Amino acid sequence: RSAPPVDRLGRPLRDLRISVMDRCNFRCPYCMPEATYHEGFRFLGPKERLDFDEIERVARMAAELGVTKIRLTGGEPLLRAGLPDLVQRLSSLPGIEDVALTTNGVLLPRFAPALRQAGLRRVTVSLDSLDPAVFAHMSGGRGDLSAVLKGIDAACAAGFEGGVKINTVVQRGVNDAGVPDILARFRHTGVTVRLIEYMDVGNRNGWDRADVVPSSELRARIAARWPLEPLPPRYRGEVARRYRYVDGAGEIGFVSSVSAPFCGACSRARLSSDGKLYTCLFATAGTDLRPLLRGNDDIDERLRATLSRVWRHRSDRYSEERTHPPALSGGGEKASAPEKIEMHYIGG
Ligand code: GTP
Ligand code: 5AD
Ligand code: SF4
Ligand code: SF4
Repeated sequence: RSAPPVDRLGRPLRDLRISVMDRCNFRCPYCMPEATYHEGFRFLGPKERLDFDEIERVARMAAELGVTKIRLTGGEPLLRAGLPDLVQRLSSLPGIEDVALTTNGVLLPRFAPALRQAGLRRVTVSLDSLDPAVFAHMSGGRGDLSAVLKGIDAACAAGFEGGVKINTVVQRGVNDAGVPDILARFRHTGVTVRLIEYMDVGNRNGWDRADVVPSSELRARIAARWPLEPLPPRYRGEVARRYRYVDGAGEIGFVSSVSAPFCGACSRARLSSDGKLYTCLFATAGTDLRPLLRGNDDIDERLRATLSRVWRHRSDRYSEERTHPPALSGGGEKASAPEKIEMHYIGG
């Protein structure tokens, strides 16, 4: 049996992000704009989605190939019936040290205790504003701020071993002025807020670089009120740059994938809910594992071969190329690039 695969840039496979549900009960304009994701939008049907046996099978093989961390995403993962059961299966797999969840939080009061019981180590809740009007706008009119806050409380009460985080996507002129309110609310609570640069994921959010508030600018604004001090990365290629409040109120993070990309140590593979494997958040094509999973013979051996081959061929570094396009000679032009996969489908 060969050594765990590394990709063409020498990066190992460590993280698997699994989207368990392409639907969401929110319509955040930067992710699932209502204009596209209306009543008539065709989401995946139940048979198109991988079932828990199939997901577990992929995760088990991924773990054999080096994956230690799994993150469950969506759409909204808690819309998937029986999620705690999946958490239990994944957290029991040999080699898996950490299972985390990214959610909009609304269903956490119902599920947090069972998720904790099932072995979920960490929860990240998306929260873009504490201002009800801004929140309503940023969740496409579907979200209820108080429900999300109750979800965060429920997660804190459940006592997840690895803690609770907040993801805040910052858009200039939309919610950036409200960032200090979010920070103020979660200082001294042990909840880490992470401020995310608005990204050009998918094709439908009408991204414009002018809408991005670079982390350096945001950090300067914050530090003027609460002095900050950098913390060392917890692992190589950590997505967020960590800082602590000098006054001891806790920690915050900046995810700067536009202004300071972190592809160099990116060890993340993504599995969509219908079983396509992607090697980058900005990929335009994936590898369909479903025919293989639903075939008859040597499923595990074929799965091992496919995962290894896909990872070994990987050379993705989209965010770095956006910042430093390769000079001349082909490859750099994204203009003619085929459509990128959508965020709600691959989970961020
Ligand atoms: P931990 O470090 O394990 O806590 O996980 P994480 O930092 O990957 O957490 P999370 O999934 O919450 O990521 C935060 C945000 O960073 C996501 O919502 C994305 O917007 C962005 N992000 C995560 N992974 C990637 C990535 O591989 N590439 C890019 N460009 N952005 C990413
Ligand atoms: N840019 C940055 N982050 C995004 N997310 C969704 N769309 C974008 C985007 N365009 C984040 C959400 C959530 C996670 C699933 O991905 O805030 O935390
Ligand atoms: Fe749903 Fe999260 Fe996308 Fe908002 S960002 S529409 S909550 S999946
Ligand atoms: Fe990894 Fe692609 Fe994100 Fe770069 S842009 S960090 S390669 S997922």
